[in-house]
Amino acid sequence: MRLLRLAFVVALASGLAAILIYITGVSDLDDGIRLSSEDLDALKSLQSHFQKCVSANGLGLQAVSGSDNCEVSLKFPSDTVPKWKDPKTGEVEGLSYDFNLCEAVATWEQVRNSTTILTREFIDVLPNGWEEYAWRRINKGVLLNNCENRTLCMEKLSLVLPNRPPYTPRQFGRCAVIGNSGDLLKTKFGKEIDSYDAVVRENGAPVDNYTEYVGTKSTFRLLNRGSAKALDKVAELYDKGKEVLIIKTTIHDIINKMIREIPILNPVYLMLGASFGSAAKGTGLKALEFALSICDNVDMYGFTVDPGYKEWTRYFSESRQGHTPLQGRAYYQMMECLGLIKIHSPMRSDPNRIVKWVPSYSLITAARIASEKLLRRVGAGSSDPLAACSIIGKQVRGNFAVKQGSRKAAIEHQKYLKGTTMYPLEHNPGHGLLCTVPSGQT
Ligand SMILES: *[C@@H]1O[C@H](CO)[C@@H](O)[C@H](O)[C@H]1NC(C)=O
Ligand SMILES: *[C@@H]1O[C@H](CO)[C@@H](O)[C@H](O)[C@H]1NC(C)=O
Ligand SMILES: *[C@@H]1O[C@H](CO)[C@@H](O)[C@H](O)[C@H]1NC(C)=O
Repeated sequence: MRLLRLAFVVALASGLAAILIYITGVSDLDDGIRLSSEDLDALKSLQSHFQKCVSANGLGLQAVSGSDNCEVSLKFPSDTVPKWKDPKTGEVEGLSYDFNLCEAVATWEQVRNSTTILTREFIDVLPNGWEEYAWRRINKGVLLNNCENRTLCMEKLSLVLPNRPPYTPRQFGRCAVIGNSGDLLKTKFGKEIDSYDAVVRENGAPVDNYTEYVGTKSTFRLLNRGSAKALDKVAELYDKGKEVLIIKTTIHDIINKMIREIPILNPVYLMLGASFGSAAKGTGLKALEFALSICDNVDMYGFTVDPGYKEWTRYFSESRQGHTPLQGRAYYQMMECLGLIKIHSPMRSDPNRIVKWVPSYSLITAARIASEKLLRRVGAGSSDPLAACSIIGKQVRGNFAVKQGSRKAAIEHQKYLKGTTMYPLEHNPGHGLLCTVPSGQT
C-alpha cells in the first residue's frame, strides 16, 4: 500500500516535471530567446483587440486566430461571390486569408522609422551595393556587366539618386493616399482630401475633371513600370514640376532621356521598400508604405474596400484587369486594425468615424517587442534604437535630413535616433536594417 502511494507520488512528480519542461520549452525558444509573461500577454491582447476591431469595422469580415498567437485568418461571409480569377491557374479568389500579426507588427513599425527613398549613401554602404544592388535597379536592356563599370551605373542612376534622403520620418502630420478605385465617384471626398498635409497618388490618376471626388492637391505620385515609362504623360497630369514622382521599379534609359531632354521638372526618385512577402505587393500598398515612412497619420481613399467590390474598376477609365481585390481588402483591414491607417470609402464615409477596438500605441509597442523576440529579429528587445542595425556606415555629405523649421515630431525622432538614418533591407525583413550615422560617429 505504502509502495503504491510512493509510486503514485513519483508518477505525479514526473508528470509535473514533464509539464514544466513543456511550459519552459514553449516560452524558452531553442536558442535561448525567452518570451516573458508580459510578452505573451501582449500578443494575446493584440489578438483579442484585433479580432474585435475586425468585427466592428470590417463590414462583414471576421478574424479567427490560428494555431499560435501570431496567426490570424480574415474570412469573408460565406455568401460572398468572388469574381477575380488568377489568370495563370484560372482559380477564383478565395474567401479566407491567413496573415501573421507578429510579422506585420514588427515589419510595419520598422517602416515608420525608415527611409524609403533610394540614396547614394545606401548603395555606398551596402556590401556589393554598386556591383549587385545598383544593377538590379537599372533596366537591363543594355549590357552593363553587373555594374563592373561603376561610372556607367552611376551615370544611369545619377538623375534619380540623391546623396541623402530628401524626406524624414514624421516630416508630415496627416497624409492621404488615394487609390484609383471606381468607388471614388460615389462620395465627394475632394474637400476632405485637400485638407491633408500631403497627398499621395498613383500612376496615371488624373485630378482634372474629378476634383469634387479626388481633390486637387497632389504632393507625391508612386509609379509602376508602365507609368514610369510614360513619365512625360504623368508629369503633365498635375501642375508642371510640382509633384514628386517616385518609381517603385527600375530606372530605364527612356526615363533618363525624358528627364534630361523634355525636360521633366519634377523631382524623380526610386523607392526602396521593405519586404512583406507575396501578400502585399502592388502600387497601392507601396504608396501606403511610402506615406507611413514620412507621415504621423495615414488615411486611405479610393481602394476597393467595401463589400460588393469584387473586381477592380478605375474612376477615370474603363474597368481593367486588376489583381486580387479580396486579398487586398483583407490586408488593408488588417492594417487598419493594427492602427497603421484609417480607411475612408463610400460605406465608411463619416470623416469623424472612430476605428473601434484599434490597439493602443502602448499595446502595439509591447506586441512589437514580443514579436521581434519571437521572430528572432536583429536587436530584438533592446532599448538601444540602433540595435536593429545590422549594417552600419557613414552618412555622405549632402542635404541634412531634418531641415530647419521641421515639425517637432520629426526633430524629436531624429534626436531619439541620434541622427541615424535607417533603411530597410529589401527581401530581408528578419535581418536588420542598414543604418548610416553622422560622420564623426563610427
Ligand atoms: C565605363 O563607362 C563610361 C561611361 O559611359 C565610359 O566612358 C567608359 O569607357 C567605360 N569603361 C569601360 C572600361 O568600359
Ligand atoms: C477634362 O474634360 C475635358 C472636356 O471633356 C477634356 O477635353 C479633357 O481632356 C479632360 N481632362 C482630363 C485630364 O481628363
Ligand atoms: C521608432 O521610433 C520611435 C521614436 O520616434 C521609437 O519610440 C520606436 O521604438 C521606434 N520603433 C522601432 C521599431 O524601432
